[in-house]
Amino acid sequence: MTDLVLPSETNPLNNLFGGELLARMDRAASIAARRHSRRIVVTASVNHVAFKHAVPLGSVVTVEAKVSRAFRTSMEVFLDVWIDDRESGNRTKANEAIYTFVAVDDAGRPVKIPELKPETEIEKLRFEGALRRKQLSLVLAGKMKPTDATELKAIFEID
Ligand SMILES: CC(C)(COP(=O)(O)OP(=O)(O)OC[C@H]1O[C@@H](n2cnc3c(N)ncnc32)[C@H](O)[C@@H]1OP(=O)(O)O)[C@@H](O)C(=O)NCCC(=O)NCCS
Repeated sequence: MTDLVLPSETNPLNNLFGGELLARMDRAASIAARRHSRRIVVTASVNHVAFKHAVPLGSVVTVEAKVSRAFRTSMEVFLDVWIDDRESGNRTKANEAIYTFVAVDDAGRPVKIPELKPETEIEKLRFEGALRRKQLSLVLAGKMKPTDATELKAIFEID
């Protein structure tokens, strides 16, 4: 999803307002999740956002969204945000984020979705870490007991 940064979308330093970028990422991620599941999707959680670089007024910003893993009804979506350099035409990575979407029926009840098979190295890396991030998100949301978060516990196990 590519769009310009207009004056009404900036903060007093003339950089893109964080909430505007969150909204753009939410839109792009919802399209990716909807294309994968072919269902109505809702944002369940914003798991990670890193505003590494400011995005100046007038920038051309591209938000790339990709489902990294599909669970039973939920999907993890990775967002990579790029800015075009006007003169060289090259893109630089400005920000990244991870969102979770849930596929739902017409009444808003979660529904089962197809699996996703990672192919490239980066897809495999993101796929493998997704369960750990899901468990962290559920623990932080109070929906999972830390003692049940097997993938998380594995990180902290010391020989
Ligand atoms: C998202 C929503 C459908 C989940 O409903 P729920 O009753 O918690 O349903 P479940 O407990 O069955 O969870 C459904 C899935 O979401 C996952 N999930 C729920 N909360 C989560 C969280 N905070 N982080 C990560 N995953 C989460 C569950 O693990 C489950 O995944 P799985 O089926 O793939 O294993 C419900 O909370 C909702 O409708 N929220 C509002 C969504 C919305 O309006 N978003 C826009 C905000 S303005």
